[in-house]
Amino acid sequence: MSEYLPGLEGVPATQSNISDLDGNLGLLTYRGYPIRELALCSTFEETALLLLDGRLPTADELEEFDQQLRGNRVVKYNVREIMKYLPATGHPMEMLQTAIASLGMFYPGDECLTGGMCEDLNYVHNMSVKIIARMATIVAMWEHVRNGYDPIPPRKDLNYAENLLYMFNGEEPDPLLARIMDASLILHAEHTINASTFAALVAGSTLGSPFLVVAAAIGTLAGPLHGGANQRVVEMLEEIGRPENVRSWLDKQLAKKAKIWGMGHREYKVKDPRATILQKMMRELMEARGGDMGPLFETALALEEACEEKLAPKGVFANVDFYSGILYKEMGIPPDQFTSIFAVARSAGWLAHWREQLGDNRIFRPTQVYSGESQRSYVPISER
Ligand SMILES: CC(C)(COP(=O)(O)OP(=O)(O)OC[C@H]1O[C@@H](n2cnc3c(N)ncnc32)[C@H](O)[C@@H]1OP(=O)(O)O)[C@@H](O)C(=O)NCCC(=O)NCCS
Repeated sequence: MSEYLPGLEGVPATQSNISDLDGNLGLLTYRGYPIRELALCSTFEETALLLLDGRLPTADELEEFDQQLRGNRVVKYNVREIMKYLPATGHPMEMLQTAIASLGMFYPGDECLTGGMCEDLNYVHNMSVKIIARMATIVAMWEHVRNGYDPIPPRKDLNYAENLLYMFNGEEPDPLLARIMDASLILHAEHTINASTFAALVAGSTLGSPFLVVAAAIGTLAGPLHGGANQRVVEMLEEIGRPENVRSWLDKQLAKKAKIWGMGHREYKVKDPRATILQKMMRELMEARGGDMGPLFETALALEEACEEKLAPKGVFANVDFYSGILYKEMGIPPDQFTSIFAVARSAGWLAHWREQLGDNRIFRPTQVYSGESQRSYVPISER
């Protein structure tokens, strides 16, 4: 009988050449390129194409892809109509899953998928563009629809990050905020075989449509043990309130074995390299705004320091979600939309894995260790 490993810890579920991490050194690479270099030098558009195609594009290839993304931002009015009937109090990730799944009804064609080497790359690429381009529009649309306003239409003259911010607040995007958003999208675009990417691969292995693949992944990202943690982090920091409250708050939480959101990772046994970069960007932003770090960031810094004393022996350090939320908050994005922004970026990674797997697909069908009763006879209800 095979050994059962809860959470599939350490069990390889795929073979992939998209990204790699070293959890002891705190290193992450996409297609071999360190995340730090990509965050500094690349754009979300270029990184998405790198993930999809496996190599850095030429200037012409990038221009073509960028134009494809810009040309695919508009979402059919039917999707807005669907949104109008969803409860404004519902979670944006549930809306996003609904909207992306519904897109599949407008763009059929998945019958061309064969799960073999002769995959229809045009279909795969075109659907990837459709999804990545529309993710941002849908997330921003919801912000307005749920508040009773018409959505702000996307603008073709802005890059992906600028347009995302513009669609949220209707203002000309601040260059520093747009660059930070761009870098954050890069940092969130891919992360090996985590829970949501695994969900994407499982759905993709049945040769289902890419819209259902991404919808499965969105549903999996939403939970607070995964991407949903970024919302919880800001709620937690607001509850703590000020740096001087950190230590007593932390002691109480740890005494009742509660989670410290944004801390810990299955793979990293040191600080997540993405958290280091996001923290630096947050500091740069606050310095550019006059140097006051603000209570939320100060509280986060104090909490990270206190956690290091208490949780480092368990290999628990800040992860990507620890600093992303406070950055998004500075951009005027409401906390329950933080995970949606994560999903916008991660759609590139999910689709890269979907494409990679399609080249040599086999349906996921693991086994289980049965721990129930052995075979027994049915007892009529009158005799129980
Ligand atoms: C990410 C996470 C789900 C990984 O889970 P995992 O690999 O199954 O790790 P475990 O739950 O087995 O944790 C190992 C130990 O560290 C502790 N630990 C892990 N994360 C912790 C956290 N955020 N707060 C407090 N303790 C934590 C566990 O309690 C456990 O301690 P024990 O050995 O004394 O029982 C987990 O760290 C977590 O829940 N973090 C908070 C949610 C979060 O930020 N998620 C985003 C991840 S990017």
